Amino acid sequence: MWGHGNAVPLHDCGCTIQRSVHVQIVTHFLTTMPEPLQKIERTLQQLEAGTNEQVSALFVEVRKKFNDQEALRRKENNPTNLLVFWTTWLGRKSGVLTKITENWLKPSPPDLKRIVGQELNSLKAHIEAVRLEQTAATEMAAESAASLREREDLSLPGVARPLGSRHPLRQTFEEIERIFLSLGYSVVAGPEMETPYYNFEALNIPEHHPARDNMDTFYMAAPSGAAPLLLRTHTSPMQIRTMEKQQPPVRIIVPGKVYRRDNPDATHGFMFHQIEGLAVDTDITFCDFRGTVEYFVREFLGPKVKTRLRPSYFPFTEPSVEVDATCVFCAGKGCNVCKQSGWIELFGAGMVDPAVYGFVNYDAKKLSGFAFGLGVERLTQLKYNINDLQLYFQNDVRFLRQFA
Ligand code: PHE
Repeated sequence: MWGHGNAVPLHDCGCTIQRSVHVQIVTHFLTTMPEPLQKIERTLQQLEAGTNEQVSALFVEVRKKFNDQEALRRKENNPTNLLVFWTTWLGRKSGVLTKITENWLKPSPPDLKRIVGQELNSLKAHIEAVRLEQTAATEMAAESAASLREREDLSLPGVARPLGSRHPLRQTFEEIERIFLSLGYSVVAGPEMETPYYNFEALNIPEHHPARDNMDTFYMAAPSGAAPLLLRTHTSPMQIRTMEKQQPPVRIIVPGKVYRRDNPDATHGFMFHQIEGLAVDTDITFCDFRGTVEYFVREFLGPKVKTRLRPSYFPFTEPSVEVDATCVFCAGKGCNVCKQSGWIELFGAGMVDPAVYGFVNYDAKKLSGFAFGLGVERLTQLKYNINDLQLYFQNDVRFLRQFA
């Protein structure tokens, strides 16, 4: 009987199931196989099938058996059963088709050979078709399982990229540039390494003038013979460089870095930022100066802020002033920041000293103008109530994020 002893088709399917387990499964499967398939162990003669009809009937039985088992296998959908199933039917050594070839076809009498051959081929084609269909279905299932696994989950939260923000000093630069551009000024930039001539002399600060003391800076050793260089202490040298190159009318602002030999603390740094302003023309009066300053302060700090000019001294302006504004923190009532005065100092400014025109070949009799030097850190501090100048340069995102 098929399914006994060494007649069991063992492991010729190439599967990887452990041999002893495979034997158990196949044995179980084959011994429980019902009657019709046992017929393939005998010849047609033994089965007393002598006519075409009887042969066809035998094949109908086999095909029905195949279809039933296939339906069952499909229902169970177990990969181990799948291997056993195909080994049972297609196994090269002792699969059902091999048995039919050996036991029915080969020993059949010549008058039955044709019908047995035909029926066998048609059975083979049927089984092969089912197998192809099954393989395709398995592959498709695997593919869709894989694509389900690999599919991008659109509901997952995205990768959040931390968004940077413009540095508060940069924002102040841009705001001030916007205000003066709207007044017809243009923006120019100059070198941070300057000659003493542009940084001091041409600005009416001769070599031994005491005004140099509070502008002590870093000097660069110059190649022998060359004029020494220094890191500019203010943006004012660009007043001279601009007037040397350009005839009036002049209306410029000069944003940039400046350097002084100061020890860093809450109000000092060895580097800070200024915006220089210069306007020179044939008919510029003190009123234009005052109006420009007032307009700028209102635009920058708000329409309620009032300004006042306090006498001061700079070698390159005459008269010189400090521009004060009503305290932005107490609206002029008096607080700790303004030391109860109600006023805070904003920046230095003044009418261009006629002596300066002498350095640039401008006619001091026909021309007049004003200049100012805005401290960018200071104006930013007042606008946002920042109490330590060092915060600007420490790049602590907790500080910077507040200005996003
Ligand atoms: N350059 C001066 C300073 O740095 C500021 C200033 C500029 C004053 C222009 C008057 C006019 O202190």
